[in-house]
Amino acid sequence: MKALVLAGGSGTRLRPITYTSAKQLLPVANKPVLFYGLEAIRDTGITDVGIVVGDTVAEIEHAVGDGSAFGLDVTYIRQNAPLGLAHAVLIAREYLGDDDFLMYLGDNFVLGGITALTEQFRRERPAAQIMLTRVPNARAFGVAELDAEGARVVGLEEKPEHPKSDLALVGVYLFTPAIHDAVAVLKPSWRNELEITEAIQWLIDTGREVSSTTISGYWKDTGNVEDMLEVNRLVLEGLERRGTVDDSSELIGRVVVEEGAQVTGSRIVGPAIIGRGARVTGSYIGPFTSIAEDCVIADSEIEYSIVLRGASVRGVRRIEASLIGHEAEVTPAPRVPKAHRLVLGDHSKVQISS
Ligand code: TTP
Repeated sequence: MKALVLAGGSGTRLRPITYTSAKQLLPVANKPVLFYGLEAIRDTGITDVGIVVGDTVAEIEHAVGDGSAFGLDVTYIRQNAPLGLAHAVLIAREYLGDDDFLMYLGDNFVLGGITALTEQFRRERPAAQIMLTRVPNARAFGVAELDAEGARVVGLEEKPEHPKSDLALVGVYLFTPAIHDAVAVLKPSWRNELEITEAIQWLIDTGREVSSTTISGYWKDTGNVEDMLEVNRLVLEGLERRGTVDDSSELIGRVVVEEGAQVTGSRIVGPAIIGRGARVTGSYIGPFTSIAEDCVIADSEIEYSIVLRGASVRGVRRIEASLIGHEAEVTPAPRVPKAHRLVLGDHSKVQISS
């Protein structure tokens, strides 16, 4: 069995960050979201992983390499344009051969892993197996309709106006090679993509078995800022405290100060993480905050935020619910502030009243 990880796409919902960076490499507790997925795949026992990449190919290859750091054997498959999840399967045809495979969306985060789901598929081997979760706003998702027993999938709809259930598709799918027949006959949808939901619907319509597992655990598509912050919060909550600071600083709760980070005259209320080589001086870092490597936070207050590598925040109180891009600079402008809420692209420079 192989895995196909989708790490291309256009990432429009995370602009401007995704103009310059792959969204799958955005850090959750200072580790790229994609790495959590690769680790979950490794834990299923699968070692052969094809990663579908688009314009950000260089960045993904640089981060993941040949996969050996994860115990995986990674092959890169170039997708020239983000023409849909089923298009990714189409171009991976040769790599996948006649093997069963697990398809994983590289920006998805599933707590509790995917091992049980994969084992169920190996045992029962339906043509396709999908993973579902109950959501309050089904209209925003691919939605599944199940039979009376609640196991077999009888229909799928992409972002329906009137959802037939509250069961949304999670970005993990298991397929036998039957999916290739389905993908081969697809036509582009109204959004000019080959839709995986249509391919699975084709399997159902041609009498193949499509089964589902409803997960009760946590799942998020990290495709927008709110969800990124939320996943970051969740992962930080599971951290164990480690690292040291100077005598004039105070750490409260689960705080990780990575090696080579310097914290002086500051108060950090966990859960929070301060990355390698970061410098935090005279500042307050509040709960659910990840400061990546080589950032500078000076005379500032920040909480419930993600600050990417090399960014600096100087003399600003207070930043909340923000995602600050690589090498961005935040400095005060001469005026009294309220709370600031920012989504800053890489290398951006903003001035904020302070
Ligand atoms: P999406 O989040 O559905 O699509 P997107 O990346 O284009 O983002 P947005 O909606 O914000 O514009 O994609 C899910 C995952 O699959 C993500 O990791 C990107 C990847 N993907 C591909 O690799 N190829 C594709 O053709 C598409 C559509 C997505």
